[in-house]
Amino acid sequence: MTLVDQQPPTKSSSPNEEDRHPTLSDFLVKTVDKESDRLGQLNDFFNSPQIKSELHWFTHRDTLERAAVRNDRKLYYYRPFDEILGGLMVWCESRVLEDHQAQIRLVAVHPAYREYGIGRYLVKSAIKFAKVWEKSTMIADVAADASAVGFWKACGFHQVDQYQTKGGREMYQMQRRIN
Ligand SMILES: CC(C)(COP(=O)(O)OP(=O)(O)OC[C@H]1O[C@@H](n2cnc3c(N)ncnc32)[C@H](O)[C@@H]1OP(=O)(O)O)[C@@H](O)C(=O)NCCC(=O)NCCS
Repeated sequence: MTLVDQQPPTKSSSPNEEDRHPTLSDFLVKTVDKESDRLGQLNDFFNSPQIKSELHWFTHRDTLERAAVRNDRKLYYYRPFDEILGGLMVWCESRVLEDHQAQIRLVAVHPAYREYGIGRYLVKSAIKFAKVWEKSTMIADVAADASAVGFWKACGFHQVDQYQTKGGREMYQMQRRIN
């Protein structure tokens, strides 16, 4: 099944997992590490047609790979059963960031599973990670006309800057204090 189908995923298609009852751990946000086979799945997730069009930018696989191997970056995913339902990439160090800032570079939730709290859960995980890095501010950029502005506001962010991309798209920088 692909995201294009927009159908909720089945609980499990693996014969080994068919009889297994879900445990709490299935519902936890997890981290992609360098050995994980989740990197390819997360790449496919972020680059699925609908999510790619909503994010307005292309996610290169190398960018995800770097986030998986660097200890100042993290890739999170939410996959309670056999399909990724949400993903997030957060950076704590970068030449584009000030010392006190961490940045959520990417966040998306499967279209059929929105408004269930998955996005907020991913953001919480990113904030927890940024606190370990002693960051005091989380930032995120969003297209000014995207409905995701409402998501950031609901997650405690407010607009601190406005700019135009080279392509002429109006953007907001959203920010939230995290300590
Ligand atoms: C933005 C996105 C990640 C939100 O994920 P989600 O799992 O639906 O969000 P949640 O269910 O955790 O919602 C958290 C809060 O944000 C609000 N919210 C979520 N999406 C919203 C939207 N489009 N407009 C207004 N508010 C929204 C929810 O109502 C909720 O508020 P509440 O707790 O006060 O009820 C998801 O819609 C998405 O993947 N969009 C496409 C990709 C995208 O735009 N990413 C952000 C780019 S900057």
